[in-house]
Amino acid sequence: MTNQIELSGVNKHYGAFHALKNINLTIAKGTFVALVGPSGCGKSTLLRSLAGLETISEGELKIAGELMNNVPPRKRDVAMVFQSYALYPHMTVEENLTYSLRIRGVPKAEAKKAAEEVAATTGLSQLLKRYPRQLSGGQRQRVAMSRAIIRHPKAFLFDEPLSNLDAALRVHMRKEIRALHDRLHATSVYVTHDQIEAMTMADHVVVMREGVIEQQGKPLELYDTPANKFVAGFIGSPAMNFIPGVVAEDGKSLVIDLGSVKQKIAVDHQVQAGRKVTVGMRPEHIGITAAGRGTFDVPIAVVESTGSSTFVTAATTPELTIVETGRGTARAGETVGVTVDHSQLHLFDENSGVRL
Ligand SMILES: Nc1ncnc2c1ncn2[C@@H]1O[C@H](COP(=O)(O)OP(=O)(O)OP(=O)(O)O)[C@@H](O)[C@H]1O
Ligand SMILES: [Mg+2]
Repeated sequence: MTNQIELSGVNKHYGAFHALKNINLTIAKGTFVALVGPSGCGKSTLLRSLAGLETISEGELKIAGELMNNVPPRKRDVAMVFQSYALYPHMTVEENLTYSLRIRGVPKAEAKKAAEEVAATTGLSQLLKRYPRQLSGGQRQRVAMSRAIIRHPKAFLFDEPLSNLDAALRVHMRKEIRALHDRLHATSVYVTHDQIEAMTMADHVVVMREGVIEQQGKPLELYDTPANKFVAGFIGSPAMNFIPGVVAEDGKSLVIDLGSVKQKIAVDHQVQAGRKVTVGMRPEHIGITAAGRGTFDVPIAVVESTGSSTFVTAATTPELTIVETGRGTARAGETVGVTVDHSQLHLFDENSGVRL
């Protein structure tokens, strides 16, 4: 597979502010990549740098093998889809779609045909004569995507395209975007701060924090083996529990400290005795059983049921979150036993947060 996008040693400074720090990222043709991370981590800056809307301060940026550092946006042959849609309000859907073709001198009849073809793929055929104000949010988003598709770009760049839509439509549109990507054999870079969106849509997820790529890989690689505490806490919902622990004399078990509960548990691999660690336990990897029957007992503070699953919060320090599928059996105020599968534990260095 050829590489469609290559960033090596990319840095971006806004005056004294260092927004992108030594970014190295290779995107193979046909891949769907998601950039995720908290607000302000540099996702949009990275995407805008790909589009040429920002100039990078150092490093190399290649698209389809060509160095793009000084190439203006319109010559990069990439299409950006924004959260705000950025449609022209005084133009019909058809005019919005054909605008980029018409300014390039494509004959009117040919542009109209292209618009009709794209509209058929994106379900807009019946809406070509309407104005943006006469469309729903989801339809507007589809126009924005169609306008990108009509140009046959080398890559699609999405900046939080679904954040203005309600929850149900978001779920629907994320499947639609992914299906379109597959059908068009496109290369897509998709910015979101929603890790569920990233995990479900992308082949490759890039987790950023403060201008740095913390980890990148397949969605389930990040879930199964997060490189550090930040990624571990960011990927997975509800978030992973972090509990302080000290490795015991034998190096094969550790004592976790939940305030009122101090418990020795086995670990899967040898760790240096006496080492202080942070133990990561995903809420879905902790089970609930009768008091005295589990690995240790905890008092229950809160029980929240969504119908399909139940979130249980134990009154420990730090609090422990447990997810049960279905209605669950725990009641607030009770003491229950919890079971911990030691093969599912994650260990991080207490200070650096790096995975052990
Ligand atoms: N033109 C600018 N001048 C100075 N600083 C900027 C500029 N644009 C962005 N920044 C800063 O760079 C950092 C990264 O911004 P960016 O917009 O890339 O974040 P983001 O990850 O997209 O966040 P969000 O999820 O909130 O959209 C932020 O701290 C922001 O304040
Ligand atoms: Mg942004």
